[in-house]
Amino acid sequence: MWAETEAFLTRLMCPPDPDLERVLQVSAQENLAPINVTELQGKQISLLARLIGARRILEVGSLGGYSALWLAKTLPADGRMVTIDNNPVHALVAAGNIKEAGLHDRVEVRMGNAAEQLEEMIEEGAEPFDFFFIDADQHNNVAYFESCLRLGHSGSLIVFDNVVRSGEVRDPEAANPAVRATQQVMELVGSRDDVDGVVFQTVGKRGHDGMLVARIV
Ligand SMILES: C[S@@+](CC[C@H](N)C(=O)[O-])C[C@H]1O[C@@H](n2cnc3c(N)ncnc32)[C@H](O)[C@@H]1O
Repeated sequence: MWAETEAFLTRLMCPPDPDLERVLQVSAQENLAPINVTELQGKQISLLARLIGARRILEVGSLGGYSALWLAKTLPADGRMVTIDNNPVHALVAAGNIKEAGLHDRVEVRMGNAAEQLEEMIEEGAEPFDFFFIDADQHNNVAYFESCLRLGHSGSLIVFDNVVRSGEVRDPEAANPAVRATQQVMELVGSRDDVDGVVFQTVGKRGHDGMLVARIV
């Protein structure tokens, strides 16, 4: 029923987009795992980016560039996006897909370990980002959160994908480092004064999950 409902909502609210469809086709041809956001989730994050008028977007976890393209399509012509992946094949496929969509003028695919790339950007004094989408190795979510705080500004949104994991996140004794790191980020978001946020639980074709949306105060 969740999957059918998602298919229904997708038909109504996500009109076919040849660029996005091409990303999925090329990613499948290149044998990338189908672990990209769904169409509906792509629309959800792109709507969030539009709502805040994001001009600078940073993504951790490019895969084939599917969520990157959803987000890049929200950017104005002078907007900029950086998407990071440590897998050279993923980074290459993502860069190719973004080029095919004609958005390579505003999207940079950085190949490398995200924690190192983020640290480099902090050291380079990168212009602050308005919107962050974190969708990679979850055990590093606390480090990513802290880097986002340093690379963002008051009003920036930080979105973490897959934070509920069929309710796994509610286990205070969780042994999985991915779950523990995500719990820590939630605790920080819930307790710090300089950031505020909430988890949107979702159900759909990928089961029960959710996104944490935090705003730098
Ligand atoms: C779930 S996929 C990203 C899906 C993508 N956001 C989408 O929806 O189209 C996670 C990606 O994170 C990358 N990744 C994992 N650990 C990483 C790290 N430490 N640094 C950079 N990228 C990493 C993986 O190679 C993989 O491509």
